[in-house]
Amino acid sequence: MTMTSQVSHQPIKFPPHFIWGAATAAYQIEGAWNEDGRGESIWDRFTHTPGKVEDGSNGDVACDHYHRWPEDIALMQSLGLQAYRFSIAWPRILPQGRGQVNQPGLDFYSRLVDGLLAAGIEPYITLYHWDLPQALQDQGGWPARATAEAFVEYADVVSRALGDRVKHWITHNEPWCISFLSHYIGEHAPGWQDGAASLRVAHHLLLSHGWAVPVIRRNSPGSQVGITLNFTPGDPASPSAADWEAWRYHDGYSHRWFLDPLYGRHYPADMVADFTAQGFLPEGMVFVEAGDMAAIAVQTDFLGVNFYTREIVRNKDAADNLPQTVFPAPRSEWTEMNWEVHPDSLYNLLNRLHFEYRPPQIFITENGASYADGPDSQGQIKDERRIAYLRRHLTAAHRAIKNGVPLVGYFGWSLMDNFEWARGYRQRFGLVWVNYDTQQRLPKDSALWYQRVIAENGF
Ligand code: FCB
Repeated sequence: MTMTSQVSHQPIKFPPHFIWGAATAAYQIEGAWNEDGRGESIWDRFTHTPGKVEDGSNGDVACDHYHRWPEDIALMQSLGLQAYRFSIAWPRILPQGRGQVNQPGLDFYSRLVDGLLAAGIEPYITLYHWDLPQALQDQGGWPARATAEAFVEYADVVSRALGDRVKHWITHNEPWCISFLSHYIGEHAPGWQDGAASLRVAHHLLLSHGWAVPVIRRNSPGSQVGITLNFTPGDPASPSAADWEAWRYHDGYSHRWFLDPLYGRHYPADMVADFTAQGFLPEGMVFVEAGDMAAIAVQTDFLGVNFYTREIVRNKDAADNLPQTVFPAPRSEWTEMNWEVHPDSLYNLLNRLHFEYRPPQIFITENGASYADGPDSQGQIKDERRIAYLRRHLTAAHRAIKNGVPLVGYFGWSLMDNFEWARGYRQRFGLVWVNYDTQQRLPKDSALWYQRVIAENGF
């Protein structure tokens, strides 16, 4: 650990108008998976398939937020949140993916938005946080170009209905997870293991983003539109040329494959060569059609950054089919996800994004830690490790702002404990603890700490 990541005792003040929020995603909290006309999503299908989720659980009920949203808004208000980032479940709006709109689904989000605004909380909407309508999956899913067209229809319907009141839009959450994690590694829905498909997915996601941005702007005048990427910076295991080479690949596949096209640089040539060698491009880049790259490079208002950890990267093992091997730094501090706590990587990342890509604004749209601490006999949840995690990452973020990085807001992941995808309910990322038997919510010490940070605009 370097000096700079030590807890600072200097008072830290964020710039005036810095936005403090918390984030969730529809499938992780809503439940009510088959109510009021909601269609099936790929996550319903995936979690209802035995063996896909560590504890065999699913999002059928989750935090029951679909029924408890007024209570959840009151909770956010009591914590002083200024902004709330949540996602829309596409199959609530268009149960078959496109075509017939399900009005009760739109009404749910319309009431939620009105409730937030009445509580003085700014809604930040993510359009796609992974719950593709199963009907679209059955027609080919994201590997099919038609799904990008369907996304634009969906974005149009939602931004027409809510665009008068919602002024911050995120098209996609974490295209890397949707493409490589879900279609190559196979850990997330739909659980494919097909490298060639994952590159088509990545392209169609980026394309649908590029096509949707002008539609959202038209329907929601004066709004700010961006995309959220996940970043897992790597560090080479040794200074050897082979480990640096592995690091280059890791950075290309995790970050540059998305950043470069979004910022008008086309797909990175080194990665095109690597993916070709890996057999991921059997017919070349045939999925890129005339005009696509210009559409993807549409000017956005902000970049959303999700940051949790870094990885150490070393040259591949002979037995491995990946060109690189990644692992968490062995002698360090990890959360219960086995993710290393490494705030300096957030600092370096923010600087790099600013100096290399120049997004006009950056939001940290997710950052947080999984620790299972629950209530003691007095009902207090002493999640000291989460407070330390947040304090250290906010300190790193503040240092980046002092360097001139246009970081304008921070969303803690997550407002409350929820369904952590393939890891199920055992991983608890919430500022607020959830009792899944009774659906009782209880602010953890970290939530009370965050409440003070918001009130003081620092700590
Ligand atoms: C991110 C996801 C989010 C949550 C956190 C822990 O990759 O966007 O939904 O699961 O990880």
